Amino acid sequence: MSPIHLPPLGMREPGPPSKGPGFAHVCHKWAHGDRLEQRGARNLHYPVRVTTAGPSTTGMASSYTANSDFQRDSAASAIPQINELVAAVLHRNTDRAFTLVDYGTGPGSSGLALFATVINEVRQADSAREVTVVHQDLPGNAWGDLLTRLRQDPDSYLAGDAPPPVLAAVGSFYRRSLPPGSVHFGMSFMAAHWLSVQERPLIRSSAALVDADSAEELRIAADAATDWQEFWRCREDELASGGAIIVKCIGSLEDRRKSTSHGLLEMLGGAFQAAAEAGLISQQAADGYVLSEYPRTESEARAPFDAGLVRQLRLDSAEVHPEPDPYRAQYEEDRDASGYARALVGFVRAFTESSVRRYLVHHRAGAADPGQTVDDVVDWIYRWCQDRWSTDPESHPFEAWTLTVIAHRV
Ligand SMILES: C[S@@+](CC[C@H](N)C(=O)[O-])C[C@H]1O[C@@H](n2cnc3c(N)ncnc32)[C@H](O)[C@@H]1O
Repeated sequence: MSPIHLPPLGMREPGPPSKGPGFAHVCHKWAHGDRLEQRGARNLHYPVRVTTAGPSTTGMASSYTANSDFQRDSAASAIPQINELVAAVLHRNTDRAFTLVDYGTGPGSSGLALFATVINEVRQADSAREVTVVHQDLPGNAWGDLLTRLRQDPDSYLAGDAPPPVLAAVGSFYRRSLPPGSVHFGMSFMAAHWLSVQERPLIRSSAALVDADSAEELRIAADAATDWQEFWRCREDELASGGAIIVKCIGSLEDRRKSTSHGLLEMLGGAFQAAAEAGLISQQAADGYVLSEYPRTESEARAPFDAGLVRQLRLDSAEVHPEPDPYRAQYEEDRDASGYARALVGFVRAFTESSVRRYLVHHRAGAADPGQTVDDVVDWIYRWCQDRWSTDPESHPFEAWTLTVIAHRV
């Protein structure tokens, strides 16, 4: 196989138009060759220009539903809070309509039981309220899978006697997705950490944004702050008076010592590095891959509220708390290392594969050799992770610190 190369100097990836001032579209990194040789050096400088453009994800892999126990458990643990929030909305808002929106809904695997919870709660409290369900996600979401689940899953809220109308809001949640003042209850699970664009720091042996060097770290934090502000500005517009929203996404401890999925993304970065060493991809391509999701700290989560940027919203709470790892729990029980490795790789692959594949396609994997496909490289990368976890289940554990933010509109 011949190596995959980064695009020529100055070439931009196709992506969405500019978000506006302050948003870094092009980041220049210039050569300091000696740094490449430093043992353990992670943040690298090449004589190439690396671009920051293109969306961070176009949706999850088709394996997502079968490999999202963690996301499902995390969403389900919010049911008591959701019940309380819905009761509060019904108390504060007397509209006849009740519109429920799931932002970054994905194929619907985590949310279905929650929708039923909210719908029942509303109808029991006030049978006159007309509930409408809205699924919000990017155009590349697995919409077909979602519709199939809605029709076929016994947990689907459409399975009941009085199925509510269902709408799709297609687009980015960094833009307004619904008419002003129309949303009574919003929820978002494991989605709001995906940045609006693909960041491109160069990091050796890690695919985690938190491993970027200090200069890049500041720029990335600024991009993430801008996204977070936009997310909340849009929800401020969309929420009806008295409406509420709960957002659960990946988080980070205040000192960034720990953040969700760090170990997993180090493993994935290790696989890219191994692929470079095996001659499957170039070193530059290996160092350039990063998953553009940002684990926020509690203070970052509070920032737009504290700064008075969303004056019509009240922040009820913002907390980062550890979340259990279902794959590890299973391993503790059965000590089946290969089963553990398979489950963990299934989980990682489900939320990273579309980004890995898109990156490799972009960098023209296989263009030089028709015998080499992107599929081969993608499979090789995940097989490498699986072998490592199978031989050493203690390495690179999945650790999760979930950020939960609850707010309501005055
Ligand atoms: C890990 S999945 C979570 C799906 C589902 N909420 C769950 O808990 O299983 C992340 C979802 O966020 C969506 N997403 C990422 N960025 C988005 C954006 N800017 N606007 C809307 N959806 C986005 C992805 O397409 C994907 O469906």
